[in-house]
Formats: sequence, structure tokens, C-alpha cells
Amino acid sequence: MLRTGTTAPRPPGPSLLEAPKWIMRMRANTFQTFVALSREYDASVIRVPFLPGKTLYICNTPEAAQHVLQKNQKNYRKAFTYSFLKPVVGEGLLTSEGDHWLRQRRLVAPLFHRKRIDTYAATMQETIEEMLDDWAVRPQGAAIDLSDEMSRVTLSIAGKLLFGQDIGRDASWIGEAMVLLFRDVNQRILSIFPIPREVPTPHNRRVQEALNKLEELVYGLIEERRGQEEENEDLLALFMLAEDEETGERMSDKEIRDELLTFVIAGHDTTSNLLSWALYLLSRHPAERRRLQEEVDAVVSGRVPTLEEAKKLPYTDQVLDETFRLFPPAWTVEREPMEDDVIDGFFVEAGNVVSVGPYFIHHNPKVWENPEGFDPDRFGPDVARPSHRYAHFPFGGGPRKCVGADFAILEARLLLAAMVKNFRLDIEPAAFVRAEGTVTLYPEGGLPMLLHQR
Ligand code: HEM
Repeated sequence: MLRTGTTAPRPPGPSLLEAPKWIMRMRANTFQTFVALSREYDASVIRVPFLPGKTLYICNTPEAAQHVLQKNQKNYRKAFTYSFLKPVVGEGLLTSEGDHWLRQRRLVAPLFHRKRIDTYAATMQETIEEMLDDWAVRPQGAAIDLSDEMSRVTLSIAGKLLFGQDIGRDASWIGEAMVLLFRDVNQRILSIFPIPREVPTPHNRRVQEALNKLEELVYGLIEERRGQEEENEDLLALFMLAEDEETGERMSDKEIRDELLTFVIAGHDTTSNLLSWALYLLSRHPAERRRLQEEVDAVVSGRVPTLEEAKKLPYTDQVLDETFRLFPPAWTVEREPMEDDVIDGFFVEAGNVVSVGPYFIHHNPKVWENPEGFDPDRFGPDVARPSHRYAHFPFGGGPRKCVGADFAILEARLLLAAMVKNFRLDIEPAAFVRAEGTVTLYPEGGLPMLLHQR
């Protein structure tokens, strides 16, 4: 009999003897190993001995995901894996818990309501125009790294709208810093004895330098805003003016730093990867690309859709939904059960890590027919598809669902339609594209594409 008194079985998974093999594989490539595990053991929940005294449970069904993120969410807090992000994002919205999280979530929520998001379209459009101008002067067939380009434009948009500053010019070093920091987080999660960050190894020094530069950037934003006279209504203003309801105290610079870094990271990397994957898939599927071109050519009158036009692009949305399904940028979200629980028929023990991975559920052949195929028509009107809310949940679910979902969707629609209207992007013929997942799911080593003006 288990601690809860339940007779539910333990989930299947590698035995203790096999575990070291899987852990070694995870250290070499966490994402690919999670995928291999979810395929090898055909069950709604899989159990993997993970670290000494820690078990990892991987959820493979919509029912399991809904149980953890929504139905029994009171029993779950963010897993210890998120604590490794804290040197970067501190007690920002993504990593904090309890009253502090709730206060901050309520504070930012009005900026992310759908009606408010519509007012962001003009800045998004203007920034996309700048990118198109820059692309238009390149020779036909110019080689570009699409990951870099998407990083730059999404950072510019997030910076202008959330902090009143164009930080797109900093995209290259921010991108590099994030890859380094996210890999470091991954390695630390999987190390039995991680070398403390304070030990000045060459790797730790590089990580610290990346962190210092990011801090310099956000403290610079705060300083600059303090010197400004005009009134702002953006996220930075919100944090700088917020007062605690009981004490009347303002947020400290450290608290503002944590939130700004959270939004710099959460607010662009995911959308940037989504768009890279969408254009990659389209370049591999010419028929679907032609159909998308036909839609945007028919609906979009200028170079970038207007807000009204952006709402009349159903096939564009289907392509985005299918990209979200195949390459969900937040491929796993992790929780810790505070008490023993039963998830979709399997017993899980308190204090461990439950991975609720959109990736695994989006690729489960029992949930989606032909899950590896790219077929935007699955999301077409009148097409039968899995009805469960958690069969497709790229933004997570429950109270911690992504606060920026509508922001990301508008931005992605505008960008995808504008790129397809004006350019054709082909994957470089010799490119070897492989997905790597640390905190987000991205094309390893970038995405080499050839740019043709239409
Ligand atoms: C394609 C784009 C995006 C995807 C796939 C995505 C996905 C997610 C997911 C799955 C979570 C939940 C994490 C968890 O439960 O542990 C999340 C949280 C969050 N996202 Fe996004 N996101 C995207 C874009 C954005 C944007 C544009 C912003 C801001 C402008 C943003 C800000 C946040 C924040 C602050 C949180 C933490 C919310 C909380 O815990 O209350 N995200 N995101």
C-alpha cells in the first residue's frame, strides 16, 4: 500500500539498472532523450530515476496534463528545475510563487488583455516594416540566419512595447547569452555535484559575464526611465509606479530587474523560435507555402497586414497552430507534487519532478493521427480533431498559463504574413536542422535560409 493508500500502479519506465544509461543520454541531449523515453514506454505517465533521490515523471496524455496544470493544480508548485533559472530571472513572474506571484500577475494582467494588445499593432507593424526594409536591400538568394533575424525583430518589438526602448540592436549578444545561460541551467539540473557558480572556472566566468551584461542592460533601462519627464504606460512604468496595497512601498530595483529580465526572456525567445520553425516547415512543404502565399496575397493590401487584415487570415493561423503542435517553443513545463498523487491512473510520489510536455502530447500517436506530419488542415474548419483542451496547449494551462499568449499570437500573425507576402525563404540545401531543447525548443546552431524577394 502506498502512502496515500492508493492502489494505483507506479508508472512504467527504465529500471534502476538502466537509469544511468538514460541519465547519460539526457546529459548529452535532454530534449531528444525525453522524446526517446516517451516513445519507448507507451503509457500516460512514465517514471525515470533521475538524480539520487529524485524521480522524473513524464506526462504523455492530455488528461495527465490537465490534472497537473489545472484540475489538481493546488497540489503542484514549480519544480526545483525552475530554481536554476533564479540567478537570471530571480523572483520574476515565471519563477515566483504564492502571494508575491499573484500580486505581480494581477499587476501586469491589464497590459495583456486582448483589447490592449490591439493597441500594440502599430509598433509591431512599424518594426516589421524596418526588418522588411533591411531585407529588401539584400541581394536575391542572400544567406541569412533566420534564428538571428527573428530574435532581433521580436526583441525590438518587446523592448519598444514593454520598456519603451529598442533593444533589437542587442539581439546578437542577448541571443548568445541566453543560449549559454540556458545550457548552464540544463547542465546544473542534471549534475549530481554541480560546480558552484562562485568557483571561477572559465565556464562559470563566461556565465557570470553574460549575466552581468543582461543586468547592465535592464538597470540601464530603469535608470534611463528615472531621468525621463514624460509619462509612460508600459510595463516598465507599471513596475516603477506600483505600490504595495498594505505598505504603500514601491518595488525595489532588484524586484524590477527580476521582472524585466523575465519579460526580456519570456517575451521574445519563444515567439522567435515559433517563427523560425514555421518558415522552416514552409520551406520543406511547397504546396502549403503556396496556399499561404495565396491567402496573404488576397487579404493583405500593403507590405504588413493591418490589424483588421490580420484577423482575416485563417490559413495563416492554421500554419501557426500546426507549428505550435510540431515545435512547441516551451516544450516542457515542470511541476513538483507537494503530496502524493494519482495522475491519469498512475501513482506519483511527492517531492519529485513532473514534466508536462506539450511536445510529448502534441506528438502522441494516440492523440494525433500522423503526429510527425506537417498538415495545417488539421486545424481547418469542419475538420475532426482531438477535442481535449490539453491535446494542443503551447501556452500551458491553469493559473500559470502564459500571460503573453495574445501578444505572441498577434505578433506571430503579423510577422508570418508580412514575411510570406514579401519574401520567399528557402532552407539552405546542405543545412542539417535539428531541434535542441533547453528552456525553449530551437534549431540547434541557427537556421540557415536563403532570402528571395517575391
Ligand atoms: C510563442 C510564444 C510563447 C509561448 C509558446 C509561451 C509559452 C509559455 C508557457 C508554456 C508558459 C507557462 C510556463 C509554466 O507553466 O511553467 C508561459 C509563461 C509565461 N509567459 Fe509565455 N509564451 C510565449 C510568449 C510570451 C510573450 C510574448 C510574453 C510576454 C510579452 C510571455 C510572458 C510569459 C510570462 C511572464 C510567463 C509566466 C506567467 C506566470 O507564471 O504567471 N510569453 N509562457
